[in-house]
Amino acid sequence: MKVLCLLGSPRPRGNSAALLSAYADQAQALGAEVARHSLNDLDFKPCQACFACKTTSEVCVLKDELTPILAAVRDCDVLALASPVYFGDLSAQLKAFVDRSFSLLTPDYARGEKKTRLAPGKAISLLLAQGHPNAERFTDIIPRYAYFFRLLGFTSQFPVRAVGVYAPGEALGTPHWLEAAAQAARQALGAETPALT
Ligand SMILES: Cc1cc2nc3c(=O)[nH]c(=O)nc-3n(C[C@H](O)[C@H](O)[C@H](O)COP(=O)(O)O)c2cc1C
Repeated sequence: MKVLCLLGSPRPRGNSAALLSAYADQAQALGAEVARHSLNDLDFKPCQACFACKTTSEVCVLKDELTPILAAVRDCDVLALASPVYFGDLSAQLKAFVDRSFSLLTPDYARGEKKTRLAPGKAISLLLAQGHPNAERFTDIIPRYAYFFRLLGFTSQFPVRAVGVYAPGEALGTPHWLEAAAQAARQALGAETPALT
């Protein structure tokens, strides 16, 4: 199994990085081939809305350091995205990646039956680090992005939202959140069945 881990925080040792490490380490321990990238270190543009990917090209025509990452999304079995909550949403780094994933949708995605260029059967995990301690704040982020991830063909989704982690390293001091991330990895890799709710 190939697991692609993308960090959306500018903090290399921050809370979403801690969640993503717990996830990636668990995936590796289960025998997965894990690739890790920090989006903040990559030189790439946001989507330019050129619509080439809906007219003349099967891939995003922007050629930059996100090009191999988008290719790796096509190639992976599991995609793990980690982000801090910024102003009630994803970080700009991760949102720019999500916008460029528009190139993975077919030209007829809005009305047609085949919406995605991705092969079926991939799983995704969105791992969020939220500073605010009230779990009832920002509950919309995961379901909002789940809709778009389903369009992209990710029918299996195993998200985690760690709340009340503010300063870098706070998630590391909260084993509960690290275990939640590791559990999401086990579920995404099919090593553990989620409990019925
Ligand atoms: C620009 C900015 C915006 C933020 N907005 C929110 C927010 O809307 N809600 C919240 O709970 N925390 C917010 N925070 C706090 C971060 O979510 C929190 O510090 C988180 O742990 C950062 O994750 P990281 O260590 O992975 O970067 C914000 C922090 C920054 C720097």
